[in-house]
Amino acid sequence: MIPNSENLLQDITGYSDPANWVGSLSNISAAIMSQVPSLNWVGFYIWNGKKLILGPFQGAPACTEIQWGRGVCGRAAQEQKTYRVDNVHLFEDHITCDVRSQSELVVPLIQSGKLIGVLDIDSPQLNRFSLEDQLLFEEVAEVIVSKLQFGGE
Ligand code: SME
Repeated sequence: MIPNSENLLQDITGYSDPANWVGSLSNISAAIMSQVPSLNWVGFYIWNGKKLILGPFQGAPACTEIQWGRGVCGRAAQEQKTYRVDNVHLFEDHITCDVRSQSELVVPLIQSGKLIGVLDIDSPQLNRFSLEDQLLFEEVAEVIVSKLQFGGE
């Protein structure tokens, strides 16, 4: 359900500047939002060693902090695995940041075994994300962690 996934991957590779992870994640969230249909929120939560804090995103203002293990994002971070949620209302402990969200895909960003954060994608449609979409966004996460350097300058 993504018209041109090769193009998206190419763009994300191009936007991944090792010297500027904040700018890179900003452009990557913008590229996803503009190229992928039926989304209402795309962004990153970054692990600061204590909790997940809001990073670059596109969409409505969102929760600025997510505690370890909480919500879909916290769970994906804790278990270091992708969560593909067909109906957020059926996910116990889902955190509502945007009431339009009906389904959600959260992919952890792991670099050299270390948790960096999560890529969180929300859709106003139920069952928006297929296994194919999941695999594509896992590839997106791979590109991000293979190219960017997180933390200080
Ligand atoms: N729904 C997420 C919270 C973040 S917002 O969707 C932007 C969760 O349950 O972790």
